[in-house]
Amino acid sequence: MLEVRNLQKVYDNGTHALKGVSFDVKQGEFLVVIGLSGSGKSTLLRCINRLHDPTSGAVNFEGEDITKLRGARIRSVRSRIGMIFQHFNLIPRRTVLTNVLSGSLSKTSVLKSILGMWPEEDKIKAKQYIDIVGLTGKENIRADNLSGGQQQRVAIARALMQNPKILLADEPVASLDPATSHSVMQYLKKVNEELGVTVICNLHFLSLVRQYASRVIALKGGELIYEGKPLDIDENWFKTIYGEEAVEVTIN
Ligand SMILES: Nc1ncnc2c1ncn2[C@@H]1O[C@H](COP(=O)(O)OP(=O)(O)OP(=O)(O)O)[C@@H](O)[C@H]1O
Ligand SMILES: [Mg+2]
Repeated sequence: MLEVRNLQKVYDNGTHALKGVSFDVKQGEFLVVIGLSGSGKSTLLRCINRLHDPTSGAVNFEGEDITKLRGARIRSVRSRIGMIFQHFNLIPRRTVLTNVLSGSLSKTSVLKSILGMWPEEDKIKAKQYIDIVGLTGKENIRADNLSGGQQQRVAIARALMQNPKILLADEPVASLDPATSHSVMQYLKKVNEELGVTVICNLHFLSLVRQYASRVIALKGGELIYEGKPLDIDENWFKTIYGEEAVEVTIN
């Protein structure tokens, strides 16, 4: 589904954030990216959906190297690769339904959306995704009146409006408490299993990784140092990935 080949990213200030990262993602996988703060996890996701331009290397997706695309063709890739963020990025004063509908913006004129003139089929689709993330009945509540976990579930529903093949999630539960984190992860897993959307997700807690990932890659200093099953990350690997001094903190 996705082939990342020798991906390099050097930021304008000279930071070499990705140093030749290569891996494959198969259709239907729930791939989790781990690594210390600053190891390049966010940079990797941002290069995959072209929020950042990689410096060199290739990202092959649906038959083309998307690192070479420009303009409208980048937007077309972004509509097939959804993204959710740590801080949800919802429109706070708008309703759940409007936030989810805004996920289909690229297909509706901006004026129509400001006037709330959404196509009926989009409204039906939005309500289906609101149901899938367990927010039935909350369509008309303002986003800023929801809990953090509920807001992240709105963000998932919004991302689904584009029918993405891949959903990228950059630390989707880092702002949430443990119980809420599990709830959001369970809905991501549901989207992965029931809708067949491939997920690539950055996570900090290994206990979450073990529970939800089908496969894991670890970055360290911009290099890929581990690729395998979550249960194969033993104590030695843990210390290799996070450093000798690191102690595992669990989230229950
Ligand atoms: N826009 C930017 N300009 C310059 N340097 C950047 C930029 N974004 C990230 N970096 C640097 O690139 C490196 C990788 O950062 P990145 O944000 O990808 O790490 P991360 O693994 O996501 O970390 P965290 O776990 O803290 O989110 C870091 O050294 C960071 O300081
Ligand atoms: Mg990050």
